[in-house]
Amino acid sequence: MEKIVIRGGNELYGDVYINGMKNAALPIIFATILTADKCIIENVPRVSDITMSFEILREMGASVNYLDETTVEIDTYALVGGNSPYNIVQRMRGSTYLLGAELGRFKKSKVAYPGGCNFGTRPIDMHIKGFQTLGATVTEDDEYVYADAPNGLVGNSIYFDKVSVGATVNIMLAATLADGLTVIENAAREPHIVDLANFLNTCGADIRGAGTGIIKITGVEKLHGCTYDIIPDMIEAGTYMTAVAATGGEVNIRNVIPKHLEIISTKLSEMGVEVRAFDDYITVKSNGKLRSTNIQTLPYPGFPTDMHPQFSTLLAIADGSGTVYETIWQNRFKYVAELEKMGASVMVNEPFAAFRGVEKLHGASVAAVDLRAGAAIVIAGLVAEGTTEVTNIYTIERGYLDIVGKLKSLGADITKIYIDENAFI
Ligand code: EPZ
Repeated sequence: MEKIVIRGGNELYGDVYINGMKNAALPIIFATILTADKCIIENVPRVSDITMSFEILREMGASVNYLDETTVEIDTYALVGGNSPYNIVQRMRGSTYLLGAELGRFKKSKVAYPGGCNFGTRPIDMHIKGFQTLGATVTEDDEYVYADAPNGLVGNSIYFDKVSVGATVNIMLAATLADGLTVIENAAREPHIVDLANFLNTCGADIRGAGTGIIKITGVEKLHGCTYDIIPDMIEAGTYMTAVAATGGEVNIRNVIPKHLEIISTKLSEMGVEVRAFDDYITVKSNGKLRSTNIQTLPYPGFPTDMHPQFSTLLAIADGSGTVYETIWQNRFKYVAELEKMGASVMVNEPFAAFRGVEKLHGASVAAVDLRAGAAIVIAGLVAEGTTEVTNIYTIERGYLDIVGKLKSLGADITKIYIDENAFI
């Protein structure tokens, strides 16, 4: 087991490079199932959720090889559907994309219920409704979801009652090789949806409207392989922007698409942080003195739920009172107990939290309760007085590549240490 140890108080200066986006890479990795040709995917972040997805593909018969640190060749020619490894699939959310991809290529699918960050119920009813609208029969038992369309899927109109990234991805995957036109209404508009559409279109699909609320997919006979570069991770970028805002300092956040970071930049500016956008980098400058604000999470282009915990750390130390209203994952507040151990003043009444900014946080032994909460607690450690020890750090490593090395290179006093559990026996 490992933990992160931080001695707070250092400002951050320098340049940090942002990796490819985990939540764009996952659907694209599973989308390679739709073609029996080889695909080369570039700018793939080597984080544990991604390596788990490769393990799933390998166990299903695909070959997955790193050509360099961030480029991967995937060949699903020999992949067999319906045999994904239960023990890995149920540890990650992105594996739901196997349903749409297997249905598309094999006309049937069997996939274990997916896991992922635990912030309450994470239903897949809209994915299932979408598959049924395309003509699949879907059944479930305690462990698996089964989908079957022996005569193939047929394009249709699907309206989602709620905006869902996962359901939009799954229907795009299933409809790409379906017969005729599928129209998704109230589709998710996140940059990773556009990235998936661009990847599929590069492989020969016919998908229009990605990035708007209406996506039109005209089914094609077959996809071919391609080489594709994943977009930069806006949440990783936003996390480092928040870290600089909290500690003070000046950092260039490199390899980003500033357009994807507009809301985060606007909110930081509101809090008194100087943010300047250039072609492919953003400069964040802060004196560490923040004004409080109110946040409401919304689907893109609204404020991203995956940036809520990191902004909570800012609200915990900002001048005045601020609130978070979480409209996507109403139970995403488990990390508040950890912030309170560090001296934060918070009242939670899910889906709301109210913060009264304190002068100083203090170091404590805390846990990373999920991926973004873990990043938030690391940021709290960077500004806290004294030493903070963060356990459960595998949750952070699901989505942040070398967070310790990157923060250290900016001047943070942060290390990862190995805990010998036997020492306590
Ligand atoms: C994706 O999860 C991301 N995960 C999450 O990022 C992110 O928080 C979320 O989108 C929202 O942006 C991946 O991309 C792997 P949804 P997903 O379907 O697709 C409800 C991170 O930290 N819903 O958009 O599972 C659902 O309960 C992770 O990187 C239904 O009711 O999210 C939620 O309230 C955490 N029925 C809302 O929709 C359904 O069938 C949005 O969920 C599906 C979803």
